[in-house]
Amino acid sequence: MSEPNPVTLRLSQSGESVQGNFWEQVGGRPTFERLVRRFYEGVATDPVLLPMYPEADLEGAIQRLTGFLEQYWGGPGTYSEERGHPRLRQRHMPFKVNPDARDRWLQHMRAAVDSLGLSPLHDATLWAYLERAAHAMVNTFEE
Ligand code: HEM
Repeated sequence: MSEPNPVTLRLSQSGESVQGNFWEQVGGRPTFERLVRRFYEGVATDPVLLPMYPEADLEGAIQRLTGFLEQYWGGPGTYSEERGHPRLRQRHMPFKVNPDARDRWLQHMRAAVDSLGLSPLHDATLWAYLERAAHAMVNTFEE
């Protein structure tokens, strides 16, 4: 019989050991859908961000961001099958992503992440990525 791994990561003191990739650990597709739908509820109220989305309804944008995030975190690769290589910075060039837009994006995303009630470790992991990615997306300092 092999010894149990003494450094197995656990979700809480009494919790089960953590298995699977991040996407699985946080609940798979339904969790990412909740995240992105909640995020776009915030975008829909935002006078700076909303005009950047020309389509009358945000459904297409919701599907693209959900698919991208699922793929990034270990879920199905549907995003790239449909959209090719993400090239996110390039795809954001048509939009004026200044620090104000970035901070608004992050504010709506923070509310969306909060709504999931993830474990502190999962929350911190997801948030660190989103913050870094949002800072990397800034393409102008014009007001
Ligand atoms: C920093 C502020 C940001 C702004 C203002 C912004 C705005 C936008 C806009 C207007 C679109 C076009 C809507 C669409 O057709 O999907 C878009 C697309 C997209 N954004 Fe952002 N975005 C930001 C940051 C991010 C970040 C941090 C990520 C990833 C973590 C991201 C991921 C995506 C993806 C995956 C798409 C769809 C790309 C495609 O396949 O065409 N965005 N974004």
